Amino acid sequence: MMSEKKIKKTVVSGIRPTGNLHLGNYFGAVRSFLKMQHDFNCYFFIADIHSLTTHPTPANLQAGVRQVLAEYLACGIDPEAATIFIQSDVPEVTELYTYLNMNAYLGELERTTSFKEKARTQPDNVNAGLLTYPVLMAADIIIHKANYVPVGKDQEQHLEMARTFANRFNRMYHHKLFPAPKPFTFDGKDMIKVPGLDGSGKMGKSSGNGIYLYEDPADIRKKVMRAVTDAGPTEMNQVKPEPVENLFTLMKIVSAPETVEYFENQYNSCQIRYGDMKKQLAEDIIAVTTPIRERILELVNDSEYLGKVARMGAEKARESAVRTLTEVRELIGLRKLY
Ligand code: ADP
Ligand code: TRP
Repeated sequence: MMSEKKIKKTVVSGIRPTGNLHLGNYFGAVRSFLKMQHDFNCYFFIADIHSLTTHPTPANLQAGVRQVLAEYLACGIDPEAATIFIQSDVPEVTELYTYLNMNAYLGELERTTSFKEKARTQPDNVNAGLLTYPVLMAADIIIHKANYVPVGKDQEQHLEMARTFANRFNRMYHHKLFPAPKPFTFDGKDMIKVPGLDGSGKMGKSSGNGIYLYEDPADIRKKVMRAVTDAGPTEMNQVKPEPVENLFTLMKIVSAPETVEYFENQYNSCQIRYGDMKKQLAEDIIAVTTPIRERILELVNDSEYLGKVARMGAEKARESAVRTLTEVRELIGLRKLY
């Protein structure tokens, strides 16, 4: 009997080399990469071109790319199973970005939340790359005809725009070339946002509130113990203020359900001791980060291995990108006359 080869669905996701990976990156994205790598056709990359909107120095950019590559591997992404590559090693993506830009409208780009936020917080550097950031991200995704994109909640709108650009291209050229890329979440539920421990907002590389995978356990304990809380509940079952809610959110992500339940009960009966809760939270975080930290330290100086992984990934990713670009040029009418 002929064995039927099951065609794997395709997955694409990337992280910018703008700093070390933190718990937000791990639980929002990398944990899903690990879950998906053996069952899907995966492309995980380092979005170095995207990071140029922040104008890194060449030395910082290089160091950042190397660091994220080492951290991807340290987390357990297997370069034999998934294609791990550096965005700029696949120049076809910038060509597709150019074509998609012709059908991306100023109004929709200006309305993007991340763009509005950047324009507000860094008025001296509202560059065109920031405006068209979602177009480049769409190109990253659709160039491999991705079906799923594992990302955190903060990327939800960008992913929706990727679907819009993919569908628009298909409609414009009367051909269903690109599938509509869908979000993928670790537990099949909502996309997640890992909070910072400074009282509000998400944990981010540039927000100064990150707990990093490479961090020393002593430093993690210090950061967690410093987390913002309040004087404690005064009524039974009181609604939690945001900083306390954030502490619980993080605990739900890293700790066992019984641990969360225990502290929920303590809170609801006004018996909670935040110090105890933080101590437990710190240990549960350290249990996740310790093995990763050890591997990061081993890998980051292994230039030969990092180079080998990057080269192998570049070859596989280019093969797929070139194939799509050939179809794209044909559909658009960019045919050779010779
Ligand atoms: P950062 O936001 O730290 O600069 P990136 O923008 O490069 O990092 O994000 C890379 C991936 O990590 C994306 O999938 C993003 O959704 C995810 N991510 C980043 N921060 C968080 C967070 N606090 N919670 C959940 N996911 C996050
Ligand atoms: N925009 C993403 C972020 O800031 C990074 C990214 C670039 C990405 N291209 C992508 C994520 C393609 C998923 C798929 O986090």
